[in-house]
Amino acid sequence: MKCILMNKNTEVLVAEYNTVSKFFDRIIEVKNIDYAPYILKSFYIKDDINDTPFRTNLSEWFRGRGIPSWRDKLDLLLHRLDISAPTELLDKAFGLSLSDQYWLKPLDSNLKYDDINFFDNDFDYAEFLEASLSLNSKIIKKETSLKTPNNTTDGMLKKAWIIENGTRYLLKGGYKNEILQPFNEVLASMICDRLGFNHVPYTLDVYKDTVVSKCPCFITKDTELITAYQIRNDMKRHDNTDDYEEYIKKLEENGIPNAREKIENMYILDFLIMNEDRHLNNFGIIRDVNTLKWLDVAPIFDNGMALNIPYYDENEVIISGNGRFFYEVKPFDEIIKVVRNIKRIDISKLDDIPECFDNLLHEYQHITHISDKRIYRLCVLLNRQINKLKKIIEEA
Ligand SMILES: Nc1ncnc2c1ncn2[C@@H]1O[C@H](COP(=O)(O)OP(=O)(O)O)[C@@H](O)[C@H]1O
Ligand SMILES: [Mg+2]
Repeated sequence: MKCILMNKNTEVLVAEYNTVSKFFDRIIEVKNIDYAPYILKSFYIKDDINDTPFRTNLSEWFRGRGIPSWRDKLDLLLHRLDISAPTELLDKAFGLSLSDQYWLKPLDSNLKYDDINFFDNDFDYAEFLEASLSLNSKIIKKETSLKTPNNTTDGMLKKAWIIENGTRYLLKGGYKNEILQPFNEVLASMICDRLGFNHVPYTLDVYKDTVVSKCPCFITKDTELITAYQIRNDMKRHDNTDDYEEYIKKLEENGIPNAREKIENMYILDFLIMNEDRHLNNFGIIRDVNTLKWLDVAPIFDNGMALNIPYYDENEVIISGNGRFFYEVKPFDEIIKVVRNIKRIDISKLDDIPECFDNLLHEYQHITHISDKRIYRLCVLLNRQINKLKKIIEEA
């Protein structure tokens, strides 16, 4: 199929997309390379677009928009959707997403972005929501249920986009039988609120006896999320703080105000909740898709893999002290040292946080069945981190 890769209303390139193999067989013409996905631009070599990594990377980027192979319970989801691979979904709704504005327009069509984007146009989410987050779900019947932005969500956790009163919300469950992630998301939001960090606001919702986290879409029709992974892609890898410094420099050069402080805030949060999952696709920047101006650091999102989730054992206390710092897995006590002026944090604002978290966990205990012992340990751990940070601030 001949098609145009679009960025909202801007034509990026014309190519031949193979609807069977789901690869791009040929690039016919590049029209506006500046509007290409950020990661693709670095592979572009003028006059030689077909025999270079550019075409392969175009295919990989597009396939990478699909639900990843590591999505929790992917087999079950595919069965319920009655498809054999996530790439099949990409053909159903032009590859549109709620995290950016890219889409594939068939060359012979008169389709307009305004008529098909999921920011303005409602989508049928009920069946996908059930297939993704319900324990028992039937096989999806309606073809319209596959025309949704759920075809292009990233990440390991089971999730689904829904619409409520015109707002698009992302619902996320826990990983396998773990149920703490949604609570950690809310905890992160409480901490960010009190410390004044720009973040995605997460609340709790109950869907069919499962507690899920719920957050509004932080992208608009005029913006896109560019993850740190894309930004770092063509930069040298150091495996030390140089990666961090170069990343900050790049953001500052592109005019993002207070970039350093905002990234520091993310690591302060990670320290407090012991978030182990700050990989390069869990933070980034927001770009204006019309002007290509870099607007801001993306609000802090995806904070669920925190408070020692992977090591929980009812009978034994095993505590990991390691977080993620670019390509490195490093102790939180080391990562926090990158914060230049930690005294700017008013830690007294967190005095009531362990108690609030304790209340929250108890409030939903009849659904989650998290034990009193675990709740107690979680609050002790949280309290410990707050006190540790207090000490670091006092000694700075
Ligand atoms: N509120 C949101 N608005 C827009 N895009 C989002 C939002 N939350 C997440 N995303 C996108 O969805 C991806 C997966 O969400 P994330 O919260 O990271 O899930 P997971 O915990 O499974 O990794 C993110 O990397 C981001 O691209
Ligand atoms: Mg994520």
